[in-house]
Amino acid sequence: MKGIVLAGGAGSRLYPLTMAVSKQLLPVYDKPMIYYPIATLFLAGIREIAIISTPRDLPAYEILLGNGEDFGVQFHYVEQTSPRGLAEAFLLCNDFIHGSSVALALGDNILHGARLSSLLRRAVRMVENKGGAGIFGHAVRNPSDYGVMELDSHKKVLSIEEKPVKPRSPWAVIGLYFYDASVTQKARRVEPSARGELEITTINQMYLLEGALTAHFLGRGFAWLDSGTQESLADATNFIRVVEERQGTKVACLEEIAFRSGWIGAEKLLARAKKHKGTVYGAYLESILSQIPGTESL
Ligand code: DAU
Repeated sequence: MKGIVLAGGAGSRLYPLTMAVSKQLLPVYDKPMIYYPIATLFLAGIREIAIISTPRDLPAYEILLGNGEDFGVQFHYVEQTSPRGLAEAFLLCNDFIHGSSVALALGDNILHGARLSSLLRRAVRMVENKGGAGIFGHAVRNPSDYGVMELDSHKKVLSIEEKPVKPRSPWAVIGLYFYDASVTQKARRVEPSARGELEITTINQMYLLEGALTAHFLGRGFAWLDSGTQESLADATNFIRVVEERQGTKVACLEEIAFRSGWIGAEKLLARAKKHKGTVYGAYLESILSQIPGTESL
């Protein structure tokens, strides 16, 4: 399975923070926001990733992430000239996807919780083996701000609505989607919504109609944050700071995930540590190599 991170958009809700800088490059505590959705794709085992952003911001992402060799993965860069909606990702990445299954991660979504990696890998396997789509639900206090699932008593999805005024449940659809190769054809059939966007919800509705949509649920032990407003950005920073300070481990450290997954060896990890020399991040990378066996789970 390939992956896409959507890191474009106008970011106008965060002005003046984002007048000159892409939202997904803003710091969430000790790393750029985009590290978190990339880490999610890494944890799902995905190593070929397209980053979509604006023509203005794409060069900055290339400086930050390079071609991926530092992490034992491949990064590709794709322009979105204007924010026409999430479903456009599949049209822009048609050549990149090239008949593969694909995961889409929104550049401002942060996921954290125990055994996240195995949950994600299960969703990948389902789509790879059986086709269809996999989405994730998380119960929130403000479902109207999101795509919302209506469920029956067995948690089977009955409908999905984008930002409903009267949500039928507290189950928001988080910004991480797994699709089989038919997603590109489906994306071509999406018409702009009332707010003028090519909605990802329309694609999910198409899979639902075909009986090919599986919803996974993240329980209370998971944290799902999006960082699209001043308040949620500050909350995300505080959350990551508290978790990292308390546990002495880092959330979404890309080099660590790549190393523990066997995608890079000790030499590359040390080279990255040198690159970040004199920083807490660099010291953390060095410390990974000297950890006691048994403390290494992701
Ligand atoms: O966060 C989860 C929610 O994300 C889902 O529950 C909704 O169903 C889904 O539509 C989406 O809603 P948002 O209104 O939060 O999406 P937003 O417009 O904020 O875009 C999400 C990210 O994608 C953000 O980092 C900006 C980027 N983006 C957005 C658009 C519309 C692009 O890169 N290009 C775009 O064209």
